[in-house]
Amino acid sequence: MTILSIETSCDETSIGILADGKLISNNVFSQDFHKRYGGVVPELSSRAHIQRVLPLIKDSFSKSGLTYNDIDIIAATAGPGLIGALMVGFTFAKGLALAQNKEFVPVNHIEGHLFSGFLMEEQPQFPFLCLVVSGGHTLLFYVESFIKFTLVGSTIDDAAGEAFDKVAKLLGLEYPGGPNIQKYAAKGDASKIDFPIAQVKGKFDYSFSGLKTSVLRYVQKQKADGAELDEQLKADIAAAFQESLVSALLKKAEKALKEYPVKSMCLVGGVAANSYLRERYRTLGQKYNKQVVIPDIQFCGDNGAMIAFRAYSLKLSGQSFPLEYEAYPSFKSDYLVL
Ligand code: KG4
Ligand code: ZN
Repeated sequence: MTILSIETSCDETSIGILADGKLISNNVFSQDFHKRYGGVVPELSSRAHIQRVLPLIKDSFSKSGLTYNDIDIIAATAGPGLIGALMVGFTFAKGLALAQNKEFVPVNHIEGHLFSGFLMEEQPQFPFLCLVVSGGHTLLFYVESFIKFTLVGSTIDDAAGEAFDKVAKLLGLEYPGGPNIQKYAAKGDASKIDFPIAQVKGKFDYSFSGLKTSVLRYVQKQKADGAELDEQLKADIAAAFQESLVSALLKKAEKALKEYPVKSMCLVGGVAANSYLRERYRTLGQKYNKQVVIPDIQFCGDNGAMIAFRAYSLKLSGQSFPLEYEAYPSFKSDYLVL
């Protein structure tokens, strides 16, 4: 079973090719130009996807030596994401499936991230706990199979990645903020500032908007007191913010570990690229003697490989889909137990 996948939910155009579960190609084009605007401009994102999809497919074929004849299934991200951006890849994939007489498999973007640990040589074992941390979502899942998983916790306001991006903006750092906060945090001293984390009612739920406001107040106070927001101060703020956010993420994950009988723990999504979070998550796994699977950086941000693997796991589980299936902007899943 050879799958060609198209991912265009936000600001990455990406094509994946997977043959019998083995990754052949993961071609990612990141739309860096959004930096100029301090965030993703949906209209520009859609247009850039249109320009990139076909050249990326051609490039993936030429590098892998494959052709359309070798492909059995065309998969595409159906949602959640920016609707205009989604529709580019989704409609393109449908058209391709029709023209080439291939089966079409729509994929939920979050489910793509959820199972991205399977792209690693050492794969997670069911049941596993999975923390999905991206620009749009902060979700904690208990995963029993490819088609049965339960959402046990989520954010009640900002997503983890969103908090990274907003705090970076406050500090005058470029979008996307996550990698820049990480860079500054490495040079800073987290113990110099104490940013509190909100207590949330839901047992495994998160809240990050209060943390963002604490950083804003701190920056405003420093400026009012005449302090210069120099490189060292930015580094200390970044380190203290990162420390608080990561600690909050781990606190709830640890709580869930005590309640759910898991064999493995996965950490996925764009924010899973954060080296401090990766290190702390591994340490937590060791403490509870769990297998920890964190995908390589290339599989943390949005990528076609994870969409192809999700299509593969759905086919392995005996699922099929009508071509009439539509793209959608919000989070929904046929397999989620609430
Ligand atoms: O999964 P993703 O690529 O796109 C969404 O589906 O949202 O996640 C993007 C998010 C952005 O908020 C970005 O700032 C964050 O992931 N990110 C990071 C790091 N690299 C990317 N956050 C913290 N540390 C990083 N190293
Ligand atoms: Zn994503």
